[in-house]
Amino acid sequence: MPSLFDPLTLRDLTIPNRIFLAPMCQYQCEARDGVPTDWHLVHLGARAAGGFGLVIAEATGVLPEGRITPQCPGLWNDEQANAWRRVVEFGHAQGAKMGIQLAHAGRKGSTYRDFEPGKSGTVPLEDGGWETFGPSAVPFPGLATPTEATPEYLAQVVEAFAAAARRADAAGFDVVEVHAAHGYLLSEFLSPLSNHRADGYGGDLAGRARLLLEVVDAVREAWPVGKPIFVRISATEWTDGGFTVEDATEVARMLRRHHVDLVDVSSGGNVLAKIPAAPGYQVPLAAAVRQAGLPVSAVGLITEPKQAQQILDDGSADAVALARAALREPSWPLRAAAELDCDACARYPNSYLRGRWPAVEPVR
Ligand SMILES: Cc1cc2nc3c(=O)[nH]c(=O)nc-3n(C[C@H](O)[C@H](O)[C@H](O)COP(=O)(O)O)c2cc1C
Repeated sequence: MPSLFDPLTLRDLTIPNRIFLAPMCQYQCEARDGVPTDWHLVHLGARAAGGFGLVIAEATGVLPEGRITPQCPGLWNDEQANAWRRVVEFGHAQGAKMGIQLAHAGRKGSTYRDFEPGKSGTVPLEDGGWETFGPSAVPFPGLATPTEATPEYLAQVVEAFAAAARRADAAGFDVVEVHAAHGYLLSEFLSPLSNHRADGYGGDLAGRARLLLEVVDAVREAWPVGKPIFVRISATEWTDGGFTVEDATEVARMLRRHHVDLVDVSSGGNVLAKIPAAPGYQVPLAAAVRQAGLPVSAVGLITEPKQAQQILDDGSADAVALARAALREPSWPLRAAAELDCDACARYPNSYLRGRWPAVEPVR
């Protein structure tokens, strides 16, 4: 059996294969109340039915101002948790494990969704936007200048992550992923380019990682001991003077000591940079971070089953996550099973069995 289809056990959770659906913003809470909708049920449900081992729901605000856009989901109240439960139960019924990415957007909050006709950048207050917070009053290019977060506000953020984790458990999620990548709040704190603080949340790497570690500790307290915690990081900023892969590996060591179970290794997003995007371009980052001694997932232009299998064979990662390929092909894992010549690896819903991918002809 190709190891892409080996189960992955983390704490008491066994994920049925090594193919994760990466978190992807959908901007589909049209009521702007952070309550997931039928869209989330169909979008995530289709990929659960499509054979993904772990389906990770998109960046979900732990506070209203922690959303990226007004149409992003949240998990700061029970109405949201109840709506998520329906999505989780459907995913479980398809045999998938279900995760959710908990996020605070920081200085990149209150933006228009990328497909809003004729509008971009920061949503002004009069159009339903909000004041944003960051480590320092330094804006992301083209967005509003954030307010420097006070230590009191940071304590609220830490508690909000913990409360969201409790609600994620009540909704039945198997995994929470703390979003510390792509230039959102926790990532802004990690980077010397956006964090210019002089207090205990800035300065050296330990200071810049303090907020992330406080969040992780609070989530660990709030989240059942048998369920794993993931953290997504940007393992490089692709910019001189920014957060480096060496920093990322050091942060992963800290996360291991703070009982994190897997690091999801992405990159970029905190500053404008030229990113050398090419097939598997972030895999070497995952391989480097894996040296910290905890499981990692690789993401970024992983599109072909043999490519995904090779990443595991090379020992670069313990799992792969797919985003855009899964938008165009919700049942990518079912095709992967056929292409890797393991018909038995595919988890088809009964109703779809007659549409199985044909076995691949052996190469002669
Ligand atoms: C539509 C869309 C929405 C995304 N939203 C998120 C998100 O909510 N959280 C996150 O960490 N990354 C997000 N990403 C990044 C993906 O998770 C992934 O890391 C990136 O797209 C690279 O993987 P890919 O080449 O397979 O698409 C998003 C990507 C896309 C295409």
